[in-house]
Amino acid sequence: MAVRTVVIPAAGMGTRFLPATRVTPKELLPIYDTPAIQFVIDEATAAGIERVIIVTSRSKPSIEAYASSASTAKVAVCVVYQDSPLGLGHAISCARNAVGHEPFAVMLPDEIMGDSSLMKSLIALYDRTGTSSIGLKKVPASEVSSYGNVRTVEMLSDGATELISKSVSKPVSENLVSISQVIEKPKLSEAVSDIVIIGRYVLAPSVFDHLATIKPSLNGEFQLTDALALLANENQLVGIVSDITRYDTGTPMGLLRAVIEIALGRKDIGPQLQTWLENKFRN
Ligand code: G1P
Repeated sequence: MAVRTVVIPAAGMGTRFLPATRVTPKELLPIYDTPAIQFVIDEATAAGIERVIIVTSRSKPSIEAYASSASTAKVAVCVVYQDSPLGLGHAISCARNAVGHEPFAVMLPDEIMGDSSLMKSLIALYDRTGTSSIGLKKVPASEVSSYGNVRTVEMLSDGATELISKSVSKPVSENLVSISQVIEKPKLSEAVSDIVIIGRYVLAPSVFDHLATIKPSLNGEFQLTDALALLANENQLVGIVSDITRYDTGTPMGLLRAVIEIALGRKDIGPQLQTWLENKFRN
């Protein structure tokens, strides 16, 4: 079945962005003139997604207000609620009824990608293999502890690659991996590789059954990574190691960088901003 739905978890309190997030959810903070979450909705739509389910909290009514104005001819946007902050795995399971029994994408709105190529590739990989497919990235060893970390077994070489987006810059066979182990935010000494999970996933509906069986783990939360680990145990998890441009907007500094870099890349304001920055730092 085609992947037509994305779940965007957006129930967090955004405490790193206080006082901005006292009344404005972090997902609605602007990247110049566009709320961060709109970039994720646009990336999903460009990858062929038709249905966006935002998981939010009742204490963030403006997310629902934004969602109600965000549907277009191409995409329908709705919200479901996560009533207690019990972790990413719990947030995804709150969307179970809305998703129904079909594969779906998950896109974390704290990460803005330079384009939709990774999502397109993950959807193509799922279509070809019927196996849950996640976005991965190589990082310096010192950064592994901030992410879900994977052990990869082998490059896929069964021709699954042909339908995968041409936009993955290295030969695709070098980027496709099957995953044998997944561990959430390991200590440096416990890391199983230098490859980590970035916030793009295409998941088989069976992940909801796994989410229903996991127990709270790191930080007392239900971790999506623990459900992915169960898929990996069953040989049902593959990934694409990507070097896509990625802005981490989960911290104020990351958000500021995203604003500047994305604005610099825009035709309407980029040149003006560049001139201003050059003048400012001339001496
Ligand atoms: C979440 C996931 C983690 C993943 C990361 C990507 O962590 O739990 O596995 O690597 O997103 O950004 P968070 O950053 O929400 O703590």
